[in-house]
Amino acid sequence: MIFIGFNAIHAVTFREAYHVVGALVGFSEKLDAQLNELPYDQIAPIHPQLGEDWNSANSMLDVECSMFDVLVMSKQSVRWGILAAGNIANAFATALKQCEGSVLHAVSSRDVAKAQALADEHGAARVYGSYEAMLADSEVDAVYIATLHPFHLEWIAHCVQAGKHVLCEKPLTMNLRQAKQAKKLADDHRCLLREAFMYRHHPQTQKVVDLVTSGVIGKVRMIEANFCYNSGEQPESRIQAKALGGGAILDIGCYTMSFARLIAGRAHGRLFAEPLELKAVGHLDSKTRTDMWTTAVMRFEGDILAKTTCALQVNRENTAVVLGEKGRITVEMPWQCPGTIRIELDEKNSVEEIAMPKMRHLFCYEIESFTDEMRGQPIGANAVGMRFDDTLGNMKALDWWRAEIGLGYEADAVH
Ligand SMILES: NC(=O)c1ccc[n+]([C@@H]2O[C@H](COP(=O)([O-])OP(=O)(O)OC[C@H]3O[C@@H](n4cnc5c(N)ncnc54)[C@H](OP(=O)(O)O)[C@@H]3O)[C@@H](O)[C@H]2O)c1
Repeated sequence: MIFIGFNAIHAVTFREAYHVVGALVGFSEKLDAQLNELPYDQIAPIHPQLGEDWNSANSMLDVECSMFDVLVMSKQSVRWGILAAGNIANAFATALKQCEGSVLHAVSSRDVAKAQALADEHGAARVYGSYEAMLADSEVDAVYIATLHPFHLEWIAHCVQAGKHVLCEKPLTMNLRQAKQAKKLADDHRCLLREAFMYRHHPQTQKVVDLVTSGVIGKVRMIEANFCYNSGEQPESRIQAKALGGGAILDIGCYTMSFARLIAGRAHGRLFAEPLELKAVGHLDSKTRTDMWTTAVMRFEGDILAKTTCALQVNRENTAVVLGEKGRITVEMPWQCPGTIRIELDEKNSVEEIAMPKMRHLFCYEIESFTDEMRGQPIGANAVGMRFDDTLGNMKALDWWRAEIGLGYEADAVH
């Protein structure tokens, strides 16, 4: 096999990479067929408030393409650039220092002083006063997008056009249509694109899934997941203002939805599942018209019912619970892992608590999963990490939830 030099890191071309991965996992032909038939727009709408794009996601959900130039056999660290210097950028830079095979190379901000402060704190070699300038740096291998979600698609586009692999903060985009556009752009430019869903890569989430699939609580019957906090009145803030992508569903409902879909899928031996039915209620703030508290209930295959709640103006314990025919599993810190996992069994009247040990920074696991993928090591067959088809399914379910409560954004308008 011939490897072609790529930014001082060895790479193979798209087609070669594609077959390398395919051969490794033994389904090259299937991948090839999927590649040639990547459909985008042929399923008729089924939900009155959701357009054609929403429904055509079905046709992409099974497609996990390896359409990026896979970096293989590389001993060199992946050189990261951080795009936007806000709160989460700081957390990411902190985590990066604990990650194998990654180095913080560059930081960018619209305000060079902010970028400089972040670089000083975390030791980045280069500092840029614009995102564009960082993308012109040929030594940046991968970009972590930490700007606000209404701007994610635009910057994914700029990144992949500059040949950068992209780990983008959640939610990947504002809606499913944008997520599909992002995927197409990344594929066209042979770049890896993943949504940064930190809890999904954490060993605690794997443990919860392993417990569910071990059958310890029998068949799964119900799932409950909550993510709520009280931010008070902040109509101008990024978490509440509509123009900045404010609202609970996009900020934190994406976590609860992904948990419900994950467990409902694993209960049937699949990676994730899509709701067959979804009903929701929510409160939209009178000033911002974004959702401050909301609950969705869903039916999945096998009559697994799920309830997911998120709120920006309500405090409560944030837990995730899987209820089965023999008992239940409660995850006390499902999002900010690790915490305690409690297993209660009805017949034995027993309670077992598994205290997950303090591990590395929560973001390390998603970062290492991403760099593994860059090096041609796909997410393990049963691993819980966020694949792209899972992202599409989640965006689709979030669109549905938003449609149920009448929550729209500028990005939803079809011009
Ligand atoms: N994974 C997690 O645990 C987690 C937690 C919190 C947030 N997030 C996600 O991360 C993203 C950023 O959230 P954050 O909490 O870091 O927000 P933040 O502190 O407000 O930072 C967002 C950054 O976006 C950039 N930006 C670009 N255009 C902007 C505009 N018009 N107005 C305001 N900022 C603008 C700014 O960067 P510059 O000024 O430096 O250019 C700003 O620092 C969001 O998509 C959010 O959903 C993820």
